[in-house]
Amino acid sequence: MHVFTRRPWDPDRQRLTPPEVFANRGHHRRAFLAELASGALGVTCGAIAGCGRPDEQTVRKAGAVPGIDQTLARFYPAPRNPAFRYERPETRRRDAAEFCNFYEFTGPYTKAVWRYVDRFQPLPWQLRIDGLCSRPTTLDVDALHARFRLEERAYRHRCVETWAMCVPWTGFPLAELLRRVEPLPRARYVRFVTASRPEQMPYLRDEPTLPWPYTEGLTLAEATNPLTFLALGVYGEPLLKQHGAPVRLVVPWKYGFKSIKSLVRIELTDSRPATFWNTVAPHEYDFTANVDPEVPHPRWPQTTEWMLGTRERYPTQPFNGYGRWVADLYH
Ligand code: MTE
Repeated sequence: MHVFTRRPWDPDRQRLTPPEVFANRGHHRRAFLAELASGALGVTCGAIAGCGRPDEQTVRKAGAVPGIDQTLARFYPAPRNPAFRYERPETRRRDAAEFCNFYEFTGPYTKAVWRYVDRFQPLPWQLRIDGLCSRPTTLDVDALHARFRLEERAYRHRCVETWAMCVPWTGFPLAELLRRVEPLPRARYVRFVTASRPEQMPYLRDEPTLPWPYTEGLTLAEATNPLTFLALGVYGEPLLKQHGAPVRLVVPWKYGFKSIKSLVRIELTDSRPATFWNTVAPHEYDFTANVDPEVPHPRWPQTTEWMLGTRERYPTQPFNGYGRWVADLYH
């Protein structure tokens, strides 16, 4: 079994290959650590530790997929679906883009994923949908935009680490895609797989023994619930790399780790798939991982959450406040 030697949430930025080293000199982690020990990289590490905040343009520019805005401009912004409301203030675009979780790039060592994504090339991209279905298919980014009716949804997002955000995703219900591939009667679960590109994703090389690729799973009933959303954009633009460009899942009533990024495969299965987090931290949350204030994390309570940017606190709601949509899935 793969286990983290440190807790995933422990800040220890010095173990992460800085983007400058990764981009300019290739990946030599031992050499980097030796240099770090000798003090040669002190300035770099000071910058990583976060003295001063970057402006919004810097963060967005770092994460933008080259060329994607021009190709897909006609799809944005998509009409807002009025059925969904945050019931609290929207998170600022910059706050969401600056503070991310994307372990393939930074592991647990910094939320500044935007600084580590420069080598990631999400175009061209192909998403394969296969497994127990009659009509397996492969879709590129154009097809994902053109073949589905895109809408914008204002969703609350709750990370297991207790931070939360309110962001407008652009995309379409996953159920639409699954309907088109015609699941076989035996299909009971859906397995999701993130791209695995060690040459573009630094942490895959820093920690090659972790069970990459990052995978997640839902029951077929959860996957076809109208809330489950395949997102191609956020804040009225195509997804930034740090948010999971060019296509990610959004499951707003579950902890954020279920909302898997940069998807390359969606597979229908008859048995419950292993997931990245259930494999590396089996004593934490189970496969279902619904937001629940009554079930503490082994190391902290889940009774309240704080918003990115403002740090405002709210009580955690069962199912992240989406019980009306999903509670009957669990009776
Ligand atoms: N998907 C992949 N492939 N790798 C990850 O590390 N982190 C998850 C989820 N999807 C993660 C992932 C977690 S823990 C959260 S809270 C959300 O992405 C964060 O999404 P955001 O960074 O766009 O806010």
